[in-house]
Amino acid sequence: MKSLPLELTNLPAPTLLEHLSVAVLWLDEHLDVIYLNPAAEGLLGTSLRQAHGEPVRSLLVGESMLTEQMQLSLDSGHPCTLREISLHAAGREVVIDCAISPLRDPALGRCLLVEMMDIDRHLRIAREEHLLAQQQATRSLLRGLAHEIKNPLGGLRGAAQLLDAELSSPEQREYTEVILREADRLRDLVDRMIGSHALPKKTMVNIHEVLEHVRRLVIMDSKASALRLVTHYDPSIPELYAAADLLIQAVLNIVRNAVQVMEGQDDAQIVLHTRVMRQFTIGNVRHRLVARIDIEDNGPGIPQELQDTLFLPMVSGRKGGIGLGLSISQSLIAQHGGLIEFTSQPGKTVFTLLLPLATSTEISA
Ligand SMILES: Nc1ncnc2c1ncn2[C@@H]1O[C@H](COP(=O)(O)OP(=O)(O)OP(=O)(O)O)[C@@H](O)[C@H]1O
Ligand SMILES: [Mg+2]
Repeated sequence: MKSLPLELTNLPAPTLLEHLSVAVLWLDEHLDVIYLNPAAEGLLGTSLRQAHGEPVRSLLVGESMLTEQMQLSLDSGHPCTLREISLHAAGREVVIDCAISPLRDPALGRCLLVEMMDIDRHLRIAREEHLLAQQQATRSLLRGLAHEIKNPLGGLRGAAQLLDAELSSPEQREYTEVILREADRLRDLVDRMIGSHALPKKTMVNIHEVLEHVRRLVIMDSKASALRLVTHYDPSIPELYAAADLLIQAVLNIVRNAVQVMEGQDDAQIVLHTRVMRQFTIGNVRHRLVARIDIEDNGPGIPQELQDTLFLPMVSGRKGGIGLGLSISQSLIAQHGGLIEFTSQPGKTVFTLLLPLATSTEISA
């Protein structure tokens, strides 16, 4: 066998690895995981604790070409670089460049160092910035519009009340009642669209209590249906500083959509999945810790024509839907410095809530 090109002693100190934005995997001669840095944990949607000793194949499901290449590199002792590999990891599709370097460790013998660069990252940052800007523009437009609607509406309602007091015949008063009822409905709609003005009351919140609350509400709502609600919680997620009722609302809107769209489906299932991401960027802010909540359903998927504008108000594909649920959820999560994304295809729709947990630094994208 050829001598291997790198010595393990050349590895940078572990603390440096912790701060790299490149994902680093260290594998033994059976291609089992010895070490993952936090960027690799984030990219592959796992933790070092969970992955340690596991075959790398189990983290790269469906990526046989990549694992074959690792084996070749290990056997031949030759490093190699693979470009633009699309990887299905952590419930999403990412495009990576990958460098594989065989090493020889005095204690462990042959092993592999694998570096994965998420080349999607810059694209994702640009897309998220666009989403946040779109959100802000929508919110200020709505606030302006709401002001313009609510002022004359108040006058209209007051006048109808005066008129109502003047009228003696019940038949005529039916008309003023319609005006009053419809004016109230319009006011409620506008209030829902712009959300509350009150500052949210934030406390330390356990995200799993939020999800369990939503789960109970949904189970109560859909007792008769065949819906299965499955949870995969990572108990190590620290508490976050948030307004619990706003988070409940944000999650509930998403879960309710999934329930509604799967009505009558025999094998309807919703999975709530939580995990922690390290060194993760949302928009152009890099966070040390981010809570990731995936809400997955096996329904028909989001109609293609809705996908680009899904988070805008009044976008609905549901009979009787107003199209406010997701725009409200997005704005509630934005109030916590977070973001909602989704991927969707028939049989699998995943809404991902990203909520910062720990200190952040602005980075230039
Ligand atoms: N999990 C999902 N699977 C398939 N389609 C979805 C899913 N979630 C949302 N949608 C589509 O996105 C549309 C917009 O959802 P949104 O919650 O914003 O509005 P709505 O449910 O139509 O009305 P509202 O929530 O205001 O009552 C829905 O009408 C539906 O067509
Ligand atoms: Mg909805």
